[in-house]
Amino acid sequence: MDYVVEMINIRKEFPGVVANDNVTLQLKKGEIHALLGENGAGKSTLMNILFGLYQPEKGEIRVNGKPVKITDPNVANDLGIGMVHQHFMLVEPFTVTQNIILGSEPTTFGKINLKEAEREVQKLSDRYGLQVDATARIRDISVGMQQRVEILKTLYRGAEVLIFDEPTAVLTPQEITELMEIMHSLIAEGKSIILITHKLKEIMEISDRCTVIRKGAGIDTLDVNDTSVTELASLMVGRNVSFKIDKKPAVPKETVLSIQNLMVKDKRKVDMVKGMNLEVRAGEIVGIAGVDGNGQSELIEAITGLQKTESGSIRLNNDDMTNLSPRKVTESGIGHIPQDRHKYGLVLDYSIGENMVLQTYYQKPFSKYKTLNYKEIFQKAAKLIDEYDVRTPSVHTKARALSGGNQQKAIIGREVDRSPDLLIAAQPTRGLDVGAIEFIHHRLIEERDKGKAVLLVSFELDEILDVSDRIAVMFDGKNVAEVKPEETDENELGLLMAGSSTEKAGEK
Ligand SMILES: Nc1ncnc2c1ncn2[C@@H]1O[C@H](COP(=O)(O)OP(=O)(O)O)[C@@H](O)[C@H]1O
Ligand SMILES: [Mg+2]
Repeated sequence: MDYVVEMINIRKEFPGVVANDNVTLQLKKGEIHALLGENGAGKSTLMNILFGLYQPEKGEIRVNGKPVKITDPNVANDLGIGMVHQHFMLVEPFTVTQNIILGSEPTTFGKINLKEAEREVQKLSDRYGLQVDATARIRDISVGMQQRVEILKTLYRGAEVLIFDEPTAVLTPQEITELMEIMHSLIAEGKSIILITHKLKEIMEISDRCTVIRKGAGIDTLDVNDTSVTELASLMVGRNVSFKIDKKPAVPKETVLSIQNLMVKDKRKVDMVKGMNLEVRAGEIVGIAGVDGNGQSELIEAITGLQKTESGSIRLNNDDMTNLSPRKVTESGIGHIPQDRHKYGLVLDYSIGENMVLQTYYQKPFSKYKTLNYKEIFQKAAKLIDEYDVRTPSVHTKARALSGGNQQKAIIGREVDRSPDLLIAAQPTRGLDVGAIEFIHHRLIEERDKGKAVLLVSFELDEILDVSDRIAVMFDGKNVAEVKPEETDENELGLLMAGSSTEKAGEK
């Protein structure tokens, strides 16, 4: 078998970190080869080496059997290697075509060339079924479309090998399906693909082979047909991962959260929560299932004081909480793991230590006579970091520098440590790898077992079914059905989430 690309025994060090240690990846022509590993395992580093952004300390790269030195991305382009990055590198006010030819034709930027380039870009888009409008401006198109522009950019430069760095992280489920079709049409035209991901289901669905790396080291390369999600997970994490969550039946006690007839508008003054009723009791996890955009975000914003309610009531332990300020909400016993951890969860430019006391810094012992006591703050932070397995070089490291999973564990540590009566977890595991997901699920269940009320909002039905004791389905701003996880399945939930009762759906 001929390999189009071979990376043999690659080693790459950064100050204090061995990002790649003796990693080998061999890409066959015409295959989709997944590169699997937890956050921080060294996947992007390995691919940045192949794309010429970094030089390895050791190892050899061969393209079509010949040893090569890929000193910069232009060399990679000339060798037919293209990369679709995790964070797109597009110029917002420019059109699709302008972005694609940028750098490729630096000297002649005349009108005639642009028209010609537009035609060529359109042709490429049509050939691979990308449905991109070559003349649209980047700022006017969706994230999914922007990703396709990045794909076109590599094809325009003659890529035979395409590297995708976690391409599905930014996509909706529909866009993911479409991307998979695009990948198949690329393969059909003779291209080869390296797909970086930490999502096991995706690998099983689309890849031919899979190389696993863990903490920088190459672990194994497997045929996807001969492996399972369980095996891949344990290779990736380095220990067995339980997907089924062990938990005792819930013992719900008194009502902690009670929501009645709640109406909430979003920031554009559109009605989003339209008469919501919900109760969460001590000692139970209530999961809210629903398609994104059915009022879940506004419901949580209203409970946490981030958005005003129009009418109805929110009560916590029988006290009226409607329209309290976020700080008052926090102080009255609500913990919040927010959906957007960068916007509401962390101050990215503060140290991780300071982030651990974001809600309590103004209280004793962290603050006295209006000055902060950094010794106390960092002591507390170090304790939480240890307890919640937040992997960071130190408490002084900026939150921005941590991986998503570690940022999330930090937020959970901070919120859970205050021991709130009600813990709200909104998309708590989005974008995280299996090890971190397992950890977070166990923590939520632990809180439940301590007698706390937990409200979980997730778009992942697996998560809702595995973690919740009771499921409320939210559709069009209302709680349209409540079911027990052991008495339902993905199919029924999917129908309820689409607004049809199961009987009606049966008739269709
Ligand atoms: N430019 C860099 N400078 C220093 N350390 C880096 C750099 N890029 C990555 N690292 C470190 O190398 C390790 C591997 O990172 P990365 O390749 O981004 O992992 P992955 O893509 O698998 O999440 C991490 O510990 C990360 O912090
Ligand atoms: Mg990466």
